[in-house]
Amino acid sequence: MNIYKKAGPVYARLERHLEPASWKHWRQTMLRALEGPEVLEVGVGTGANLPYYPRGIRLTAVDSSASMLAKAADRVRQCPCSVQLYHADVEQLPFDANRFDAVVSTCVFCSVSRPRQALLEIRRVLKPGGCLHMIEHVEPQSLLGRLAARAASLVTGPLLGEYFNRRTGELLQEVFGRLEDEYLGQAVFHRYRAFL
Ligand SMILES: C[S@@+](CC[C@H](N)C(=O)[O-])C[C@H]1O[C@@H](n2cnc3c(N)ncnc32)[C@H](O)[C@@H]1O
Repeated sequence: MNIYKKAGPVYARLERHLEPASWKHWRQTMLRALEGPEVLEVGVGTGANLPYYPRGIRLTAVDSSASMLAKAADRVRQCPCSVQLYHADVEQLPFDANRFDAVVSTCVFCSVSRPRQALLEIRRVLKPGGCLHMIEHVEPQSLLGRLAARAASLVTGPLLGEYFNRRTGELLQEVFGRLEDEYLGQAVFHRYRAFL
């Protein structure tokens, strides 16, 4: 079960109320630093990042949920750069190796079924010297936080395909080797930059 499969219309209505104000700043700061021109966004969702891409980027964006992608299509006009949307799974990307200068992912690895496979695919399509830019929520550091995240995920994982105990930083370190990890706040949010 994946909560996002048919969630597009509801998610698009709720996100502006649910998303903490800091997210807009985090998205802008991350995307301003992008080096293209060829950029892939995985799990584009309803297209919340689209207004913040710099001009001159050629953006390819994928999502495995057709209903989320339909909402992203409504937002393409707000994007200052060119955008191509694809219905595709990050675990099996329909692109040649070494195609992209940068890959972007925000709040996606909490719901990807096989995160290691997804990172291997991202590494495959990145050019040598390319960079994966991520903002994700991960397992908290404190013992109490870890226990709460694990308990919640026992329910939300099987029921909704959503996990609060992902150790995305550790996985990035294993798959990419070179990593910058910036703690953003609220116990769970991190910004990562992984380099090839
Ligand atoms: C919480 S939403 C985040 C959407 C967007 N990145 C944002 O920042 O608002 C997670 C998105 O990841 C997508 N997703 C989950 N697993 C995926 C996969 N294996 N391949 C592609 N997209 C996936 C979901 O369909 C959903 O649109």
